[in-house]
Amino acid sequence: MLLLLFLLKALKFGIACQKIPLYYGTLDPALALPGGPITGVISSYQCCAFCNNNELCKSFSFRGSTGECTLYSKVGSYPKFLRQDWGAEDTEFYIMPRTSTTEEFCRQDEDCVNGEPCLGRVCTTNRTITCLSIKELNPTINTHTFWGAVDGTEIRLSCLMDVQGGGWTQLVDAVFNFFWQPADVLSLNSTTVDGDVPRMRMGQPYSALWAAELIRDSRPGDYKVIVRSQAPEKGVLFSAPRAQSLLGTTPVSVPYAAEPAGSGFSFVAGTVVFPYMLNQHGVVYHMNGDKSSDIGGIMRSAEVAGDRWAVDAVRPHAIQLWIKEGQ
Ligand SMILES: *[C@@H]1O[C@H](CO)[C@@H](O)[C@H](O)[C@H]1NC(C)=O
Ligand SMILES: *[C@@H]1O[C@H](CO)[C@@H](O)[C@H](O)[C@H]1NC(C)=O
Repeated sequence: MLLLLFLLKALKFGIACQKIPLYYGTLDPALALPGGPITGVISSYQCCAFCNNNELCKSFSFRGSTGECTLYSKVGSYPKFLRQDWGAEDTEFYIMPRTSTTEEFCRQDEDCVNGEPCLGRVCTTNRTITCLSIKELNPTINTHTFWGAVDGTEIRLSCLMDVQGGGWTQLVDAVFNFFWQPADVLSLNSTTVDGDVPRMRMGQPYSALWAAELIRDSRPGDYKVIVRSQAPEKGVLFSAPRAQSLLGTTPVSVPYAAEPAGSGFSFVAGTVVFPYMLNQHGVVYHMNGDKSSDIGGIMRSAEVAGDRWAVDAVRPHAIQLWIKEGQ
């Protein structure tokens, strides 16, 4: 018995803290344990040891640049998380294993004490977690990549949080000089995992079109789609009826507005229609009502003669497509 107690104690003090990959930042200061941040801490391991030695500690943040270690009374969740922006990520965030309650962050199922699965790094019974789910949980959260899930499959989400109310989930990143093989059109994952950290590879093609209908169907109601280019930013915002699929094969006119608002959008030839699958003239995903025109070809499988995109935006860096469900 004594030996068992000794072993349990030893285990408690040896627990490895778990980093939540991708999520740099701090928790709501109201959750910090009394005494304020511990200063002069040299590493996250040392900060982890402080957390292990305080039975109230459920998570911590460690800011390497200042040696600040802050211990928290909760594991943390989206509403309580203050995430750092791209390029300003100097504060690592770690949680203690096997202490997460419903909607709190986690790394694996065993972390969730109420018996939910750990999906999209959150203890939840929800099967689908999109950028809209995250935006609703934390309306001030920034544009970034996140962990999410589509019908029970964990995926990396790229979220547009500061445009048109935020909560937009990226489905396509069609970079300028990339030729799409038919097999890649529905699914191309160029996420790199640096250690445990998935990173959007800027300038890399990406498609999660396979998830389009699953995301649309994860909530009742119609949905919205933004297709736009960068530099210049120019595109359209469709208000799509639920019956309309992003995987359709015929051109369909669906109401749209310019996005960014006021930027104007038109092709030099043909009309703007809802995106549809095609395999013609080197175009494999199209947005032009005239099938035989290669203008408005979002994804191409080969070099085509015509301009790829709208007036004033013919050679963009990338054309991206985003979905927002249940609108
Ligand atoms: C799970 O679904 C519920 C009900 O729609 C929602 O309130 C909650 O925010 C969702 N949680 C996550 C992590 O998506
Ligand atoms: C991307 O591919 C990697 C490696 O195959 C996989 O582990 C990861 O879950 C995939 N991510 C997404 C977003 O589908």
